[in-house]
Amino acid sequence: MVNVFSHSDSNLFSLQSDVKKEIQLLKKELNAVILAHYYQESEIQDLADFVGDSLDLSRRAVSTNANVIVFAGVHFMAETAKILNPLKQVLLPDLEAGCSLADSCPAEQFKAFRQLHPDHIAITYINCSAEVKALSDIICTSSNAERIINQIPEDHPILFSPDKNLGAYLEKKTKREMLLWNGSCIVHETFSERKIIGLQIEHPESKLIAHPECEEPILRRADFVGSTSALLKYAQYSPAKKFIVATEAGILHQMQRACPDKIFIPAPPDENCACNECPHMKRNTVEKLYSCMKNRQPEIVLDSLLMERALVPIQRMLAMS
Ligand code: 13P
Ligand code: SF4
Repeated sequence: MVNVFSHSDSNLFSLQSDVKKEIQLLKKELNAVILAHYYQESEIQDLADFVGDSLDLSRRAVSTNANVIVFAGVHFMAETAKILNPLKQVLLPDLEAGCSLADSCPAEQFKAFRQLHPDHIAITYINCSAEVKALSDIICTSSNAERIINQIPEDHPILFSPDKNLGAYLEKKTKREMLLWNGSCIVHETFSERKIIGLQIEHPESKLIAHPECEEPILRRADFVGSTSALLKYAQYSPAKKFIVATEAGILHQMQRACPDKIFIPAPPDENCACNECPHMKRNTVEKLYSCMKNRQPEIVLDSLLMERALVPIQRMLAMS
């Protein structure tokens, strides 16, 4: 048989499988659970105990009886897990794994925005800092935002932050005007409408599925719009065999696993770049996952009063979804 690995390739291969074995051992030793978002690299998804969207991951963080939560995702997600579990240790493989949406909404500016509109209820997307959560009335994710908005009395004005694309999409779905914060996601604003149209012409039988953080021209063309979990479910249950996927490319791993006989085409970005990969999510690697479990850091540490304040709107979200 021909050996397809060079000597150094096979060394690297066994090194990686050693790291994976060590992670499994550390998981037992720490009584840890590994939670991963769909946008993580596929090897991390395969190592995780649970892979899901922001809402699923928050729910898992509530229900776990592990002592340590290893969060393979971005900072605001790990912060949410910590707020829900103040007594547990929450580890994040790379503390610099941020989010452009969360960064677009600094707490001081958000506070001023709220003060300008004191009669508005603040519904805030989970992609924000703990400080912004603490200043909000209700948190939402892309899975439950519509349901939450529909529970707010018609005459009650709403501030929706920080994603203007998701906000505009929800305005249409709920037929409610809202005051929108001017934030957006670098990944979901990268898709090229022109190239997507080209793909649709090339693959007329395909379905375009998109995350609501995408811009309006993409959402208008989409056959289905939903959170990462909803996109995955749609791909599984749709009779269609081919999908153009307008969200971060990491989700394709679970789509392909769930539907090996279907074809998933990542929606192309404007430039010739890998901009449909979230640079923040991709800061986490298997090696960093191992090292954070081995050293029990980087750890999410938050002020206890801040956690208490941020917990209130998160609990409202869980109760309303
Ligand atoms: P989901 O809630 O759909 O997982 O979205 C999270 C996110 O960061 C999208 O960019
Ligand atoms: Fe934030 Fe966008 Fe990355 Fe999601 S894909 S974590 S919204 S930067």
